[in-house]
Amino acid sequence: MNVLPYAMMITLRRLTPADWDDARTLSVAQAQREFVGTLDDILDAAQPTDHFHFIERDNEPVGFCNIDTAYSQYYEFAEPGELGLRSFLIDQRFQGQGLGKATSAALLPYLKRHYHQHPAIVLTVNQRNLAAYHLYRLAGFEDDGELYLGGAAGPQHVLRLRLNA
Ligand SMILES: CC(C)(COP(=O)(O)OP(=O)(O)OC[C@H]1O[C@@H](n2cnc3c(N)ncnc32)[C@H](O)[C@@H]1OP(=O)(O)O)[C@@H](O)C(=O)NCCC(=O)NCCS
Repeated sequence: MNVLPYAMMITLRRLTPADWDDARTLSVAQAQREFVGTLDDILDAAQPTDHFHFIERDNEPVGFCNIDTAYSQYYEFAEPGELGLRSFLIDQRFQGQGLGKATSAALLPYLKRHYHQHPAIVLTVNQRNLAAYHLYRLAGFEDDGELYLGGAAGPQHVLRLRLNA
C-alpha cells in the first residue's frame, strides 16, 4: 500500500472573543519570555487596532501573532500605513519542528490577501534572538541595518517585508 507523505497545513486565523481562553494556554520557555512576554500580558494590553491571530496546524493552535494596524503611530522607524508584526511565537511544546518556518512562508500570501492596502509589515527582533532573526530573514524580511534601542531587553534589529514588491 502506498503511503502519501503528510503535508502540514499551516494557517493564520484571526481570534474571536471565544478564542481568548485558548490563547492564554500558549506559552514560550522562561528564557524566551524577555522577547515576547506571556499571553496574559499581550491579551490584557489589547488595543482595538491589534489583530490577534492563531497560527494553526491542521486547525490546532500552535502559535500566535499580532498584526498591529496602528504600529506606525508608536514607532518612528515605521512609515504611515505600515503594519507591525508583534508577539510572534510558536508554543514551546511545538518549537523545533519547522512550524516557525512554515508560518513565515504562509505569512506573505496571507498579508497580501487580507492587508493588501498596506505597503509593508515591520518588526523588531532582539539582536540576541538568533533563531527568530534567522527565521525572519528566511521569510524575506529585509534588514537595512537600522537598530531600535528602545526595547527593555537590549538593541533590536528593525526588519521590513514589503507587501507590494
Ligand atoms: C523563533 C520561533 C518562532 C521559531 O519557531 P520554531 O517553530 O521553533 O522554528 P523552526 O523549527 O521552524 O526553525 C526555524 C529555523 O530557525 C533555526 N533555529 C532554531 N533555533 C535556532 C538558534 N538558536 N539559532 C539559530 N537558528 C535557530 C532552525 O534551524 C531553522 O532554520 P533551518 O531550517 O534553516 O535550519 C520560536 O523559537 C519562538 O516562538 N521563540 C520565542 C518567541 C520569540 O522569540 N519570537 C520572536 C519575537 S521577535
